[in-house]
Amino acid sequence: MRHTFIFIVSLFVTLKVYGDTNAGKNIYNTKCLMCHGSTGKGDGPVGSNLSKKLQPLKQTSEKQIIDILKAGPKGLMPDFSSLSASEKQDVAKYIIEVLLKN
Ligand code: HEC
Repeated sequence: MRHTFIFIVSLFVTLKVYGDTNAGKNIYNTKCLMCHGSTGKGDGPVGSNLSKKLQPLKQTSEKQIIDILKAGPKGLMPDFSSLSASEKQDVAKYIIEVLLKN
């Protein structure tokens, strides 16, 4: 019983330190969904009308997504390098742990 409690507490502490999927969801819905779509398939209202068809987001790693955001604009992907480090972390975590798992 005590161990379960400690486990749950440390889980919440870990989640807080390594990114917040709720905050990530808000960022995704306001800044990414229009292109990448609600399930990451690239079928958002803007994404479906791009001149080049968007590929579905792939199961990569949080770090890879953060690096893509840091790198700035690429092709038709806008520049998101101005998101704060924790915003990048949160949205990457949301994509890997929630969006691509459902
Ligand atoms: C205006 C449309 C648009 C918006 C908004 C947008 N993207 Fe993209 N994204 C693209 C396009 C187009 C590409 C493909 C770029 C290329 O390689 O030519 C891409 C590529 C990516 C990739 C690499 C795809 C892969 O799996 O190889 C990731 C990750 C990504 N976007 C994440 C995001 C995140 C996170 C956001 C929100 C902060 C976002 N995008 C917002 C259009 C968009």
